[in-house]
Amino acid sequence: MERTALAPEDVLKDFMPINGTDYLELYVSNAKQAAHYYKSAFGFKSLAYAGLETGLKDRESYVVVQDKIRLVLTSPLRSGTAIGKHIDKHGDGVKVTALWVDDAKHAYQEAVARGAKSFMEPEVLEDEDGKIVRAGIHTYGEVIHIFIERSNYNGVFLPGFKEWKTEYNPSPVGLKYVDHMVGNVELGQMNEWVKFYEEVMGFTQILSFDDKDISTEYTALMSKVMSNGNGRIKFPINEPAPGLKKSQVDEYLEFYEGAGVQHIAVATDNIIQTISELKSRGVEFLKVPDTYYDVLADRVGEIDEDIEALRPLGILVDRDEEGYLLQIFTKTVQARPTMFFEIIQRKGANSFGKGNFKALFEALEREQELRGTL
Ligand code: FE2
Repeated sequence: MERTALAPEDVLKDFMPINGTDYLELYVSNAKQAAHYYKSAFGFKSLAYAGLETGLKDRESYVVVQDKIRLVLTSPLRSGTAIGKHIDKHGDGVKVTALWVDDAKHAYQEAVARGAKSFMEPEVLEDEDGKIVRAGIHTYGEVIHIFIERSNYNGVFLPGFKEWKTEYNPSPVGLKYVDHMVGNVELGQMNEWVKFYEEVMGFTQILSFDDKDISTEYTALMSKVMSNGNGRIKFPINEPAPGLKKSQVDEYLEFYEGAGVQHIAVATDNIIQTISELKSRGVEFLKVPDTYYDVLADRVGEIDEDIEALRPLGILVDRDEEGYLLQIFTKTVQARPTMFFEIIQRKGANSFGKGNFKALFEALEREQELRGTL
């Protein structure tokens, strides 16, 4: 593993300041039911709606929120739409990563001048609550980055959406913000997309893992972590590495039919409480063998949490030079074995849990074996 710190001058010359993740939009086959799932299982609450009742003819979107995390769940209302074709090809998955910026036009112009492919030229959307500016560029696969400028907007989400009021809003589970979002790209493409984030978005590579770091007896992958100037946006990018059997990244690429978002990592301040709650609501997690916990204290040293409290929940721990982190991964959350979530609590550590990779990948391979895709 290599690590590169951001030099202060890199932060100063940041030509694309980003405040954070504004929202993630998933194209799904049944937005109404998906919204219910994210509410009942993951503790999101209803925020906004757009569809027939707001004048849309061909699609419907439900927006759910938990602290700083906003998910937009969108389905087509008719056949033959671009959204429908996207779902037919990829299944449910992340279409848009929206980035919150102070100046969307500037971000778009900087990116396009540096070689980004335009998705949407800057446009102003207005309603009685003010206006937003948005613009979009393409990234890997069919994923889009939309720049959102909302300093002059006081509405519930975006112009065109109305407040979505429901009686049913289960209590939150303590999910706070998007910590990182990982992309899987085809063999040989990782460095292309690393270059894209460096040159087009002004990101810096902060970590890299090769197949010596991330491999089991059978499968391997490579990964590089890209971060924006202030560190609020982190995009690890994976590609499969040759192994004896099909890797998890290969399986993803086969079932997603191309590059796309592999997992969304969301942060919590109390992972024991969050995971207890998620489990009781039916969220399923990858399980490492119990022996993982027998050697954990020797591996990570002293931690605040009681290891015996982590063991039944299957929460993993890893330490780096700056501190430690606790993390756990859900099983995939849609019909295809593609996207999943990570829940992470950082206690000083800024890394991604390299010490857990081997145990985790073996757990993943057991899942693949059950699917007959290893
Ligand atoms: Fe992750």
